[in-house]
Amino acid sequence: MRLSVIGAGYVGLVSGACFAELGHSVLCIDNNPAKIDAIRSGQMPIYEPGLDALVARNVAAGRLTFATGIDAAISDSAAVFIAVGTPSRFDGRAELTFVHAAVEACAPFLKAGAVVVNKSTVPIGTGDRVEEILATVRPELAVSVASNPEFLREGAAISDFMEPDRIVVGVEDDNARAVAEAIYAPLTAKGAPLLFTRRRTSEMIKYAANSFLATKLGFINEIADLCEHVGADVAEVAVGIGLDSRIGRKFLNAGPGFGGSCFPKDALALLNTANDVGAQMPILERVIHANDLRKRNIGRKILKALGGSVRGATIGVLGLAFKPETDDMREAPSIDIVASLDYWGAAIRAYDPAAMEQAKPKLPASVVYCDDPYACAEGADAIAIVTEWNEFRTLDLARLKAVMRRPVIVDMRNVLSAAEVEAQGFQYDSVGRPG
Ligand code: NAD
Ligand code: UGA
Repeated sequence: MRLSVIGAGYVGLVSGACFAELGHSVLCIDNNPAKIDAIRSGQMPIYEPGLDALVARNVAAGRLTFATGIDAAISDSAAVFIAVGTPSRFDGRAELTFVHAAVEACAPFLKAGAVVVNKSTVPIGTGDRVEEILATVRPELAVSVASNPEFLREGAAISDFMEPDRIVVGVEDDNARAVAEAIYAPLTAKGAPLLFTRRRTSEMIKYAANSFLATKLGFINEIADLCEHVGADVAEVAVGIGLDSRIGRKFLNAGPGFGGSCFPKDALALLNTANDVGAQMPILERVIHANDLRKRNIGRKILKALGGSVRGATIGVLGLAFKPETDDMREAPSIDIVASLDYWGAAIRAYDPAAMEQAKPKLPASVVYCDDPYACAEGADAIAIVTEWNEFRTLDLARLKAVMRRPVIVDMRNVLSAAEVEAQGFQYDSVGRPG
């Protein structure tokens, strides 16, 4: 099938390349020419494992092409996917300008029977607005509008897309349903569940999923704090409760608070949707508030580990990205942690395998960026592990200790074993575990 994808960011580029891999002929459009030039020359605009090879393979096969403008090239598309950003507005609601602009731009070129599919995360009812825009620009045209939220995670985006837990499609007519069935046939043939709902329900499923996961994290982080007071181990609690299949072990790793481009913004957008219709979401409200506080206060662990002051101390921060296997710094806990340490008078050295360039505009200018964990630990009074990159799980502790001023590790992702670290002569603190 011929498909177009508008927006070549995390979701658009990954979806476009994966649709091509499934055998479709895909035109990926982004109005940022620098991004398209980079992709065409083989440079991926984002760090996502396996993406460069996937794009190269499908470009070479002639199934994946790129453009900077929305024009007649989309007119043979059976479906046009909208995958542009929906960031938080100043008031916490989702910014829909990019979605509306993309729909207006593609409307003149759509063929009869085409399906406009919203893959961006959008407030409930956005599909209705898209329908109105299309009806205004092309009153004569019969087109369908569908919702097909994306559930991929950064860092695991390709496997999440190709082996999804489920595909959700919200439709209001049989045409949209048939087109979606045909697009996803290669995945459903391999067992991927395809769930059809009405459009508003599909839009709600995306927000409910992210908000539920955010709540799960907020809860385990709260349990972690309590574990520290009562001498229990949150990692074992996670295993113990996670073995109950109603709870499940995934998404129970306590840490410095959730970040990223989606959980914070989507939880806030859903809360605002509730406020707008006069409904209450007290649980979600607390989850958002507790996470904001957590990110601002978790740096105090380092303060405590160094006896109540970091003034004049050097802290080595290992990991800046909001999670491993990405260079994304949006809402990363490292931003708050480094800001606190800087405010309290510490000198900061930092290392991240992928996100240092993206980190620079978000962190104080005084941060010294290092080439590896050992350079980062040079002269440090403490090391803080903030992102759980795999290379931090296998650190050479003796080498680390040899270059540090004081052997102190604050492990905010529970990647190291207290027994092993302490056996090497380190003072060790982690999250929700006896230390
Ligand atoms: P992004 O900012 O990485 O990419 C959006 C792209 O759209 C940008 O490259 C921008 O230049 C382009 N764009 C904007 N307006 C355009 C227009 N009129 N024409 C052509 N291109 C245009 O965003 P993202 O992270 O891919 O997120 C996109 C949507 O998907 C958001 O709603 C987000 O909530 C949702 N989502 C994101 C993820 C994720 O992991 N990042 C996962 C699931 C859902
Ligand atoms: C999340 C969802 O997992 C995706 O399903 C969804 O598509 C996406 O948001 C989106 O809508 O954009 P992502 O933000 O890429 O994906 O990353 P996650 O792996 O979900 O992590 C989110 C945050 O939670 C990170 O800060 C991570 O460190 C934290 N986290 C996650 C924990 O602290 N503990 C865990 O056990 C899991």
